[in-house]
Amino acid sequence: MRFGHFDDAGREYVIETPRTPYPWINYLGTEEFFGLVSHTGGGYCFYRDARLRRLLRYRYNNVPTDVGGRYYYVHDGGDYWTPGWAPVKRELDRYECRVGLSYTKVTGERKGIRAEVLYFVPLGTNAEVHRVTLKNTSKAAKSVKLFSFVEFCLWDAWDDQTNYQRNLSIGEVEVDGSTIYHKTEYRERRNHYAVHSVNAAVAGFDTDRESFLGLWNGFGEPQAVTEGRSRNSVASGWQPIGSHQLAVDLAPGEERTFVFVLGYVENPVGEKWEKPGVVNKKPARQLLARFQTTAQVDAALGALRDYWTEMLSKYTVKSGDARLDRMVNIWNPYQCMVTFNLSRSASYFETGIGRGMGFRDSNQDLLGFVHLVPARARERILDIAATQKADGSAYHQYQPLTKRGNDAVGSGFNDDPLWLISGTAAYIKESGDLGILKETVPFDNDPRDTATLFEHLKRSFHHVLHNLGPHGLPLIGRADWNDCLNLNCFSETPGESFQTTGNRTGRTAESVFIAGLFVHVAPDYAALAEATGFADEAKAARDHAARMEKTVLEHGWDGEWFLRAYDFFGRKIGSKECEDGQILIEPQGYCVMAGIGVATGQARKALDSVRDRLESAHGIVLNQPAYQAYHVELGEISSYPPGYKENAGIFCHNNPWVMIAETVIGRGDRAFALYKKIAPAYREEISEVHRLEPYVYAQMIAGKDAVRHGEAKNSWLTGTAAWNFVAISQHILGVKPELEGLRVNPCIGAEVEGFTILRRCRGAEYRIRVTNEATGKPARLVVDGKPVDGTLVPYAPAGAVVTIECEA
Ligand code: GLC
Ligand code: GLC
Repeated sequence: MRFGHFDDAGREYVIETPRTPYPWINYLGTEEFFGLVSHTGGGYCFYRDARLRRLLRYRYNNVPTDVGGRYYYVHDGGDYWTPGWAPVKRELDRYECRVGLSYTKVTGERKGIRAEVLYFVPLGTNAEVHRVTLKNTSKAAKSVKLFSFVEFCLWDAWDDQTNYQRNLSIGEVEVDGSTIYHKTEYRERRNHYAVHSVNAAVAGFDTDRESFLGLWNGFGEPQAVTEGRSRNSVASGWQPIGSHQLAVDLAPGEERTFVFVLGYVENPVGEKWEKPGVVNKKPARQLLARFQTTAQVDAALGALRDYWTEMLSKYTVKSGDARLDRMVNIWNPYQCMVTFNLSRSASYFETGIGRGMGFRDSNQDLLGFVHLVPARARERILDIAATQKADGSAYHQYQPLTKRGNDAVGSGFNDDPLWLISGTAAYIKESGDLGILKETVPFDNDPRDTATLFEHLKRSFHHVLHNLGPHGLPLIGRADWNDCLNLNCFSETPGESFQTTGNRTGRTAESVFIAGLFVHVAPDYAALAEATGFADEAKAARDHAARMEKTVLEHGWDGEWFLRAYDFFGRKIGSKECEDGQILIEPQGYCVMAGIGVATGQARKALDSVRDRLESAHGIVLNQPAYQAYHVELGEISSYPPGYKENAGIFCHNNPWVMIAETVIGRGDRAFALYKKIAPAYREEISEVHRLEPYVYAQMIAGKDAVRHGEAKNSWLTGTAAWNFVAISQHILGVKPELEGLRVNPCIGAEVEGFTILRRCRGAEYRIRVTNEATGKPARLVVDGKPVDGTLVPYAPAGAVVTIECEA
């Protein structure tokens, strides 16, 4: 069952009913100011850091769901309603929500009034703009009242929801005509405030929540709205809000548009005040002046559209399969951009107070992002590398505001360092910018301890070699990619974090997954070493990789699939000898991606085992059999009920590893079938089961052991976005930047007959036409009319157009 439809030409998903199976959200903002907005107008916004600079309050896990947002109430002769249906929930004659690229447009109509609210963050602007249009669709003149509403967060979102003894006494605002200034804590150490304004004269306002709502009312029945009368309240402590009231007369057929701006403003510390106690409003006025007219707003919206058109033109496919095309051309890259910007900080499943930028996560996000804005990827790589420690290890995350590593979610995850090699290699392949390897980058943000970026990669690589266990496999440390495989943790205290609790010391627990990752990154690392003039290091790296490959086949192979790990006691994990957890997905995907066992048959066996034991109707589950009981020696993985999250959930992040692995052994039909199982556009028809947005991936779909098999959770901020883009664009459709050229080698199976791809890379344009006979063999290429050997097309100079005919 669907709850809307894709409008591909408009690059929108059109939600047709407010009664979606869950709030379906979108993101506003592409640079420093971001908003989350649901299909009813719920959500919040913040400047750069969702915890420390939050403008709007939002109550997670609330009842009813999705409470708090930027609401517009229409009061029409005693009847009142909201165009997004909620929070008033008065039935609408018409409802529609268009989820677009960095904007959302909600339209509601009731009893002859149509209200359309467009939400977006213009480029280069630290503010949300809300363009609100009221239209009289009836045959009679109408006088309606429009109320805006936002509730301010007192900046630090964690403190805001915990420290009431202080916070209920500190709220402060100023009201100046149609503009409301939220200036809590500005009197002391903050030099920023929020501004909420409308480009029209107001008939009233409110800035105190209780005055607006009434103490016992919810957002569905604010007393100012039900009575059609603002209180003109000025907040003093308690809960500051921003609400304007406009009186709008509309002749039959007439429409009027208002522009509301909700922004973040900073003053230099020495210029905070206009006069004692009155904030310096100059920068706020400059901001508002840019959005005074509808023409200004429309121009800003046009610029945003152009921005996306340009960005999405880097990779486009025409395949004849509308669902495939919309994933590749629109929604998957869009999600890659959002995860790049926000890491795992703020979604409807991440509260914006817990997690900063993950070392591992951000590096993987780069894989799906580098082609969109290479210059921003470059900056991100240098930021991440600067948090690395001198011994090559990594903090698991860093804070976006300070860019410093912190231990809030621990460190010592021994896969972390290797991802820096993957992220950097992807960037250099896309851009050709080998110069980045010569940049000077500190360790642990200490300017006295610096080295080249290449040296950072070297320490990453050697960190693995310095930490090998009894079988010669990499030690797992706190965990590897699977945060929940905590083999040294032995936690027996309820509620204790598996990520930060003290580990047992011991150098026995080893990871076959890290071994696969090591062998996978080694060729890239070696090539970068060579390109930087370190031929000896390149050779050494290749030798280490060859040795590791042997070790995996010797000590990491279980007979029908790759082992997952050895535990603290040296016992096997992910083996037929185990009772539960006999096979885990990660090493099957990654070892085959690395080429391990491809020539000798283990790769095919491992992938057959994945098909036979892990695949379900909704994707590949992480492990089987699911762990039925808590195992103190395994950690968090066994803390989850069977079928959820890392305990046999369908973890969509690692499914693409298996897709890519299938292309490595030439089974394109398998790769594409697996792709379609989890790609959201293909799951649109079962939205009542899947429940989350049909336009973006979720981290997890409940596995076959779960009561709610097929139900997704954790949409938007997940490595799933980048990895699925890599799998489909580079391996299945098969156009992949390498250091020396563009690799063109599709592997999609027989279902898609042929397709064209337009790829822009390093300033040149590649027009690729694929005739697909699904041979499972390397493609044959004709480049600019000449047949060539192999599948690599050397990079053309900027400005060139290269035509490629490909038979696959
Ligand atoms: C989450 C984390 C990611 C981890 C994965 C598996 O998605 O963000 O870092 O690899 O879970 O545990
Ligand atoms: C839990 C989750 C895992 C996530 C981690 C991050 O372990 O199961 O998916 O990566 O928390 O804090």
